[in-house]
Amino acid sequence: MNNLSSQQILKFRDIAFLAAKAGGVVLQSYWGKQLNIREKDRAGDLITEVDQKAETEIISVIKRHLPNHGILAEESGKTDTSENEYLWVIDPLDGTTNYTHGYPQAAVSVGLMVSGKPTVGVVYNPMLNELWMGAQGCGATLNDIPIQVSTTKNLASSLLVTGFAYDRQEVEDNNYAEFCHLTHLTQGVRRGGSASLDLCHVATGRLDGYWERGLKPWDLLAGVVILQEAGGKISAYDGNEFDLDSGRILATNGYLHSALSEVVLSISPLKISTNVKLIV
Ligand code: IPD
Ligand code: CA
Ligand code: CA
Repeated sequence: MNNLSSQQILKFRDIAFLAAKAGGVVLQSYWGKQLNIREKDRAGDLITEVDQKAETEIISVIKRHLPNHGILAEESGKTDTSENEYLWVIDPLDGTTNYTHGYPQAAVSVGLMVSGKPTVGVVYNPMLNELWMGAQGCGATLNDIPIQVSTTKNLASSLLVTGFAYDRQEVEDNNYAEFCHLTHLTQGVRRGGSASLDLCHVATGRLDGYWERGLKPWDLLAGVVILQEAGGKISAYDGNEFDLDSGRILATNGYLHSALSEVVLSISPLKISTNVKLIV
């Protein structure tokens, strides 16, 4: 727990809002245009000029207001500063693959950790004009209207969401088996393609639960604050304390938490035949 007052926390939330808006202007200005798309370390892990320009804008807003705070951003890494208890964690474009296809599930994600605790989160999808905010002890909103998680009480009545990391063709633990099982046990499992929006949709009660592996802190931090403030529950797969650096998250409306945990823990990886070659 940090010792910040609500006033201080809301001041940081307002700065996160300004930063996310600045990134959103970049996403909107390139939307539908021809992009310069490259691959990062892995096939399918894309980067565009939008990711980089949005990140520059977001960081410049934070630095203008809080020059001594630390920054961890997806495309430019970590800057160490004198005030390392304040760390801004930024994904300038979460859902790059969707964005490059013109599929409007992508967002700017800006979060703040204070002394290691997720404290502020803003997630902004400018294409659909949806902006979520959350601040420790101050609740969560979508376009300024307070939000709450759903009240769905069992898996059979639930709609879930998950995702598949870019290393899915390299590892056995690729989440395919969990996806199959939970598709069978629920009303459906969506694959949104933007972890931050997946968390926000659970926070808004549109979806009831989310799990995924292979994630980075910038995919998660802002959405974690928003979901917690909307009354949701976040943990490791086994229900133990959530670790932002583990890459794994189990996030639900609370009611479904132990049932979802039980399923994801009980599943062994599904082997995909290596004889099936990708046609490229
Ligand atoms: C990706 C998205 C996706 C998740 C991937 C992330 P990016 O982020 O959040 O939903 O499944 O693991 O890397 O690359 O679009 O910023
Ligand atoms: Ca991301
Ligand atoms: Ca990204």
